[in-house]
Amino acid sequence: MVIQELDLEVRKSLSENLGLTSREAEIESRFILEHSLNVNHTYLIKNYDLVIEASKVKQIMNFVSDRISRKPLAYIFKEWKFYDLRLHLTPDVLIPRQDTELLVDLIINQHDEQGKIDILDLGTGSGAIGIALGNSFKNANVLLSDISLNATNIAKKNILRHKLKNVSVMQSDWFTKIPNKRFEVIVSNPPYIDEFDLHLKDEGLLYEPQEALISKQGGYADIIKIIKLSPKFLKPNGTLYIEHGYNQHEKINQLFLNNNFIKIKQNEDLNGIIRATSGKIKI
Ligand SMILES: C[S@@+](CC[C@H](N)C(=O)[O-])C[C@H]1O[C@@H](n2cnc3c(N)ncnc32)[C@H](O)[C@@H]1O
Repeated sequence: MVIQELDLEVRKSLSENLGLTSREAEIESRFILEHSLNVNHTYLIKNYDLVIEASKVKQIMNFVSDRISRKPLAYIFKEWKFYDLRLHLTPDVLIPRQDTELLVDLIINQHDEQGKIDILDLGTGSGAIGIALGNSFKNANVLLSDISLNATNIAKKNILRHKLKNVSVMQSDWFTKIPNKRFEVIVSNPPYIDEFDLHLKDEGLLYEPQEALISKQGGYADIIKIIKLSPKFLKPNGTLYIEHGYNQHEKINQLFLNNNFIKIKQNEDLNGIIRATSGKIKI
């Protein structure tokens, strides 16, 4: 079977069984073929008539069956790309989102990449944010933490995978076990979805760990803890960066103001929705 035939078969199967539009099926088929054959898009297009060995065809059709059971591709592949880094993943951790790359961009734009700074990534999951930062800020010390032991083990694997000597990980319930030191940057993409939010019923989210998504007090409980406690862990002029929900920016702006933060900035995600807030601690 050549790549083109396989591509058409995968698309057909995904459209018929998952009700994907032809564009959606085309994109998913591309992801599956690129991942399985370990090639990029250009290679795929240029080699449409290349014969694929039977064992590969079987692996690809197994991925398609898994996908038809509605499992997200990231959990099927056991890895996903974030900030151009391949990260190992299991259903114990959230699938890192492209929107979250915004936090990394903001930090890279605001701080000297050569700087010897201390960075803390709270609720690190797969390690996505902290690992991307550790990879960009080679002289920084980056500490990752998560309440979930499974998450910290996955983050550890990803640190080793990318050979980052400047990144370490520990288990902690927010700040409870964080060493008594101060950071230039604290960043977090915490759980922020209200337990009654209907988005939790969305197909993609059903497979992800609920404790990575849901927060009490209408989605604000964890964000409130982080904003209140961060000042004790920030160096003078240090900055806190938080990702939050599409309808939370006003309240979060107020929380930053109430907790001694200045120079508060709010930034839009790829869809033009305010999803990140940062602020500097008043000296
Ligand atoms: C939305 S996920 C973000 C994961 C990752 N940072 C990312 O952006 O892909 C939130 C993470 O916060 C962690 N978390 C939840 N409650 C926590 C707590 N009390 N202390 C520390 N981490 C917590 C979850 O285990 C989960 O990994």
